[in-house]
Amino acid sequence: MSDQILVSDDGPVRTIRINRADKRNALTGAMYHAMTQAMTGAASSGIRCLLIAGVPGAFSAGNDLSDFLKSEISTSPPGEPALEFLYALAQCECPIVAAVQGVAVGIGTTLLLHCDHVVAGTDARFSTPFVKLGLVPEGASSLLAPRLMGHSRAFSLLVMGEEFDAAQALSCGLINRIVAPEETDAEGLKAAQKIAMLPPEAVTLSRRLLRAPPAAIVERISDEAELFRARLASREAQEAFAAFLSRKP
Ligand code: COA
Repeated sequence: MSDQILVSDDGPVRTIRINRADKRNALTGAMYHAMTQAMTGAASSGIRCLLIAGVPGAFSAGNDLSDFLKSEISTSPPGEPALEFLYALAQCECPIVAAVQGVAVGIGTTLLLHCDHVVAGTDARFSTPFVKLGLVPEGASSLLAPRLMGHSRAFSLLVMGEEFDAAQALSCGLINRIVAPEETDAEGLKAAQKIAMLPPEAVTLSRRLLRAPPAAIVERISDEAELFRARLASREAQEAFAAFLSRKP
């Protein structure tokens, strides 16, 4: 699994690359765990900005649906490493930049609500098909998305499961810039380097002032997770996961 999350430091910038191209960067428990570790250890390693990136064509297809399917029979909830990742994201003291190429589905989109700067390729597509899958929004998206883009656009995204292209994502404030797909990573890195060059204490203090208090975000993540966990075992959800995984080519 180690090559499915690649962590590399370039001076004060740490890149966390999701690297499971054959599954469109769908995230497993082990991958969440690796990302959490890379995030939590960052500040003590002198890192001043994190960059989360994917592969050409896929930032992330969201949670691995076969892990969700296992929740019916599993004794330990498969969502826990994801939850641990979301808590770490909400409480991360390091600024976070994301570079998004291609699909950003489910948590691939909701994690962006915790980022400070997002660069996206013209090919980026954002969607959160939670309700279509019989689930509910996660990652504090039910709190952060309406604040960012207003109720009606958040409803289209989070409840109706509508896909936003890069231009829509820009107009609702989910991303900062649109660039050519092949320039996405380099532009993301440039933004991260720019942030990393600023006086770090002033960045930390200013970022705290700008963001909603982490406690409120963590509380919403927990509330959503309780509902999400119950929904995972629902017939609506289990049928939706099985239907996706048994698609005919
Ligand atoms: N979980 C598990 N496997 C996934 C996956 C996911 N979330 N997303 C994609 N994959 C797998 C596919 O099963 C396929 O595997 P296979 O080659 O072994 O059959 C492979 O990744 C490629 O996917 P494919 O659907 O052929 O790619 P695409 O480019 O046509 O479509 C997506 C990309 C992301 C639009 C599509 O794969 C998709 O809708 N995935 C599900 C997204 C989702 O519902 N995520 C959970 C949100 S809560």
